[in-house]
Amino acid sequence: MARPKVFVTRQIAAAGLDRICAECDAEVWPEQLPPARDVLLRKIAGCEGVLTLLTEKVDAEFMEAAGAQLKVVSNYAVGFNNIDVPEATRRGVRVGNTPGVLTEATADMAFALLISAARHVVPSDKYVRDGRWKTWEPMGFIGLDLRGKTVGIVGMGRIGMAMAKKCHGGWDMRVLYVDHSANAAAEEAFAAQRVDFETLLREADFVSVHTDLNDTTRSMFNAQAFRTMKNTAVFINSARGPLHVQADLYNALKTGEIFAAGLDVTDPEPLLMDDPLLTLPNVVIAPHIASATVQSRNGMAEIAADNLLSGIAGQPLRAWVNPPK
Ligand code: DGY
Repeated sequence: MARPKVFVTRQIAAAGLDRICAECDAEVWPEQLPPARDVLLRKIAGCEGVLTLLTEKVDAEFMEAAGAQLKVVSNYAVGFNNIDVPEATRRGVRVGNTPGVLTEATADMAFALLISAARHVVPSDKYVRDGRWKTWEPMGFIGLDLRGKTVGIVGMGRIGMAMAKKCHGGWDMRVLYVDHSANAAAEEAFAAQRVDFETLLREADFVSVHTDLNDTTRSMFNAQAFRTMKNTAVFINSARGPLHVQADLYNALKTGEIFAAGLDVTDPEPLLMDDPLLTLPNVVIAPHIASATVQSRNGMAEIAADNLLSGIAGQPLRAWVNPPK
């Protein structure tokens, strides 16, 4: 029997890729950069399944180019803002994602950014490398304390919970959160208080974003939001770049409206080399690597492979974004 044709838009961990290659007629894009759009649309023609990354826009044009036999799009990410899910649902295309396995790694990265931004870790490293470390300086690199401060979690889902746990359990922080629904587990475990967005901005010393990117959350961190935050606040975004307005973030950091920021995500990605953020010492930026640990990436590869193979077989997906209602 002919094996199902699939396209995998990048090399992923063998934990998932080996099974896909064993069970399918799979083509794996071998390059570091994503395929150009026209190449992608050509490669997916006739595929029953496509394994995508957040760099691939999966819209009506994509599904049209794949053809009516397309059964599943398996996204190698927990976020799926790159996919037009209603359009996929309309066409009967199953959409999978990879929740759960990257929760701790992502929260670890958010915390790493928090402490790096609060304690000038990156500029002080540069200071040493530049040969400027001459003596112990009583007034050099004075940062912020963490213990007993207030963390504001925007989006108390799995990753928000893991971040709250670190901040509350490890650093005795008071936890405020914003979410569209109450999270009883967070309220019980971390005495988390659900507040409105403005209260969170006004009261939090550290604001960490863990929400989905959608039409209601896009640009929620804008000039007004940064103005409302404390001058001593640190802003952390490990979710999606367009949740913040980058020019407004730059102004807030430049003028001292907020103390510092830690970003694992930017808008656009990759960050342009002439982005003014790169001129500031009080922002630390990582290239969207929060899930980049051995365990997380293996877990993501396994779930993505399961989703792809189940979708082709017409079975329920292990992590199914658009299950039948
Ligand atoms: C996701 O999974 O959504 C991340 O951004 C990439 O790991």
